[in-house]
Parts: sequence; structure tokens; C-alpha cells
Amino acid sequence: MERRDFLHDISQLTVAVCAGSLLAACSKSSDNNATPDPGGGGGGNALITANLTSELTAVGSSKTSGSVIVIRTAAGNAAASFVALSLICTHQQCTVNYIGDNGFKCPCHGSEYSVSGAVTMGPAPAPLKKYTVKVSGNTLTVS
Ligand code: FES
Repeated sequence: MERRDFLHDISQLTVAVCAGSLLAACSKSSDNNATPDPGGGGGGNALITANLTSELTAVGSSKTSGSVIVIRTAAGNAAASFVALSLICTHQQCTVNYIGDNGFKCPCHGSEYSVSGAVTMGPAPAPLKKYTVKVSGNTLTVS
């Protein structure tokens, strides 16, 4: 085999290996997209789901997923017994901390919010974003 033929064969082999790697990577990605996230209770596009027989049982208890929190504010398994809010401060988008009965405090510039998300101390210009809470039987969903 001449040097030129050898280099040609090697370059074709390299292209074939690279193409195979790319296809494998694409295949893996689409497999991940095709697998539905069970979401802990069939909540569909729910941001948070909770089983109320074991979660959020006490007033003041909370569950967080990403930048969304749901808090039990009253007894009883009705949607009105809960509030779901964004944890993103409306001032400059820092993540606020839930501090129990006193609501939320932003560590960046000191804004404070009530448990319902209303601004109680600036500089935050607007309340925390609210999400919809639904309760069906013992399953709570936030969307
Ligand atoms: S980002 Fe929260 S007070 Fe400024």
C-alpha cells in the first residue's frame, strides 16, 4: 500500500468513527427526551406535586422545587390552604429565603415579603410571582 492510499484509508476511517460517535450522541439525547419524567404522582406539567398524606402536613411547612415553593398556610386539604410562589426576588432576581411566619427575605438588598408574597420592605418593586395550587384528593399540584 502506498503512502497516499494509506492516508486516504485512514481519513475515511476517521470520518466513519466520528459520524458514528455523533449519531450515538444524538440517539442518547433523543432517548432522554422520549422518557417521560414520572414527576412523583402524574402531575403532568406540574412544577411541584405533593402527597398530602405525608407532605405539607403542618401549617408553615413547605416544599421547594427549583425556584418555586409551596407553603401550607392553613389546615385542611383545600387549595386555599396553600400558597405557591416564585423564590425569585422582583428587585434584581436574587433567590429569596423562606423564613417561616415572617415570610421571605432577600439576601442581596434586604427586601422582605409576606408569606403571601406581598412586599413588606423594599427595594423590591412588586410581589413575588404566584402560581396556581390545585388539590385533588390527597394530591397537591402547583402549576
Ligand atoms: S435582589 Fe432582592 S432586594 Fe435586591
